Amino acid sequence: MADKIIVAYSGGLDTSVMVKWLSLKYDGEIIAVCGDLGQKDELCGLEEKALKTGASKFILKDLKYEFITEYVWKALKAGALYEGTYPMACAIGRPLLAKMLTEIAQEEGADIIAHGCTGKGNDQVRFEVGIQTLAPDIKIEAPLRTWEFKSREEEMEYALMHNIPVKAKKDSPYSIDENLWGIAVECGVLEDATIPPPEDAFQITVNPKKAPGESEVISIHFEKGVPVWVNGIHFDPVTLVSELNKIGGRNGIGRMDLIENRVVGIKSREIYEAPAAVILHNAHHELEKLILDKETFRYKQDVSNKVANLIYDGLWFSPLFNSLMAFVDSTQENITGEIVLELYKGNITILSRNSEFSLYNKELATYTSEDTFDHKASEGFIKIYGLPYKTMSLVNNKIKVTA
Ligand code: ARG
Repeated sequence: MADKIIVAYSGGLDTSVMVKWLSLKYDGEIIAVCGDLGQKDELCGLEEKALKTGASKFILKDLKYEFITEYVWKALKAGALYEGTYPMACAIGRPLLAKMLTEIAQEEGADIIAHGCTGKGNDQVRFEVGIQTLAPDIKIEAPLRTWEFKSREEEMEYALMHNIPVKAKKDSPYSIDENLWGIAVECGVLEDATIPPPEDAFQITVNPKKAPGESEVISIHFEKGVPVWVNGIHFDPVTLVSELNKIGGRNGIGRMDLIENRVVGIKSREIYEAPAAVILHNAHHELEKLILDKETFRYKQDVSNKVANLIYDGLWFSPLFNSLMAFVDSTQENITGEIVLELYKGNITILSRNSEFSLYNKELATYTSEDTFDHKASEGFIKIYGLPYKTMSLVNNKIKVTA
């Protein structure tokens, strides 16, 4: 029996050539599959292209709602920023795509899942670890790691030879990955880490220097760690993120130029734009500062870092990720309230924070006559609290105290 192969298809040169190449290698049926995570124009004409290229079927799944509610919100609640900064649009999207691929493979009775990731990136790890975990019996093909083509030109030649439709317009000089949570841009001149990114590397944000001279104030209301209202208007999750991308983008918010440590050990330089992610992480973190007790807040910082590493490294579907998320969820019980932010030429300023669960107590904090804090209690506290160090110092300095 001929093989049935599910191809993670984007319509670009690599996956187009892949469809043909696989159909010849396996003499099998190809089902091209694409998940819509909000990557906009890339999806136009995809079905026609896939069928023309040799796929017998094309499946497009709208995953936008699931992406935001089941993946992005988890990362937001966890405060997951890789190496302290990158909100991980790409890394959060991959496990959902892996899940979609395995579900379709099971529905269609396919034996193989193929993807178009290269042999030196993170995405091959995320796809394959995800697929292996969810469907351990399925075979994975990664033609870009094994096929004979050594350059884009050779792939183009193959495409022409096999009548594979390739874009007439000139390709972008960059490799771009986009979804609702952000855009990643690499390759081309960006590979030279000594020079700043040219303006054309940015797709959805204005240069902060060219952003409006008037600031824009927005309020975000969270319920149990999840944003639900912007400026007093209730938005569904997908629209909320899209709106914040627009608002942030026009104020130059969310640009990043990072050197990062990839899973395979290479350091890479990547440009990111993630206006909504940067605004929401800022606001969410601010709300946690107001609401979480000291020890939980401090402990959660370590958890945020660990969760970010797990997501980046492709371990979304792992017991440790689930356990840490159970902790994260329990910390979000009271993360309900409103943050007002001012956006101005790439900067975010917090103007106000408010929550019925706020642990900020003005009567304890104030230096005025309204003060209710028991100053005298500090004396005994510090005596006991500092006792180990005082004892140590007395011993080390051979000082004898009798009282
Ligand atoms: N470095 C990012 C990550 O590993 C994005 C990878 C894809 N980037 C791209 N420009 N195609 O999550």
